[in-house]
Amino acid sequence: MNIAVFASHGGSDLQAIIDGCKSNKINANVVCVISNNGDSMALQRAEKESIPSYHLSAKKCGDEELLATELLKVLSNHSVDMIFLAGYMRMLHVSVLKEYNNRIFNIHPALLPKFGGKGMFGMNVHNAVIAAGEKETGVTIHRVSAEYDSGEIVAQTSVPVEESDTAEILAARVLEREHTFLVEVISDICENKIKLG
Ligand code: GRF
Repeated sequence: MNIAVFASHGGSDLQAIIDGCKSNKINANVVCVISNNGDSMALQRAEKESIPSYHLSAKKCGDEELLATELLKVLSNHSVDMIFLAGYMRMLHVSVLKEYNNRIFNIHPALLPKFGGKGMFGMNVHNAVIAAGEKETGVTIHRVSAEYDSGEIVAQTSVPVEESDTAEILAARVLEREHTFLVEVISDICENKIKLG
């Protein structure tokens, strides 16, 4: 199974996927890493792992359609079977969603459908969870559709919220759980326990 990972920032989720593949916990390979942010740690992590990495954005390619054409070319060149969005802050063009229908997944640091949708990313999510007085939050992995955070949920796991939590403490606890949960779920996809396509 060939996986393409899209990431905009630190890429700790990307690293968890790469490490899961290297340790054979995931029966797949990360064949390319794509980021809209040329300075992202994700691209640096890919280079360190000798994984082909691409800085592709609408700004760099000219517009959304030209970006989509470039993305589809890269994905095809690497014979990608599955796309995983790990902190990718852009909506994919409809042509990519169609070409990889039901084969694109995203990870969200909350229990969707709560605390999801446009603008709900990063610390915004954890601040909202604490402000709402939730006793638990969690991680959701879902298929990617044309609306933010609204595709079919394929897996969820809960993470406790402690009384004394700040958003930063909670974010760190959720991110740590993400790293193990990612490996479990992507492995299930590769083993056909979660349908692909
Ligand atoms: C994670 O919190 C993930 O849930 C969200 O983006 C973040 C990625 O973190 N989609 P990192 O850049 O992989 O460290």
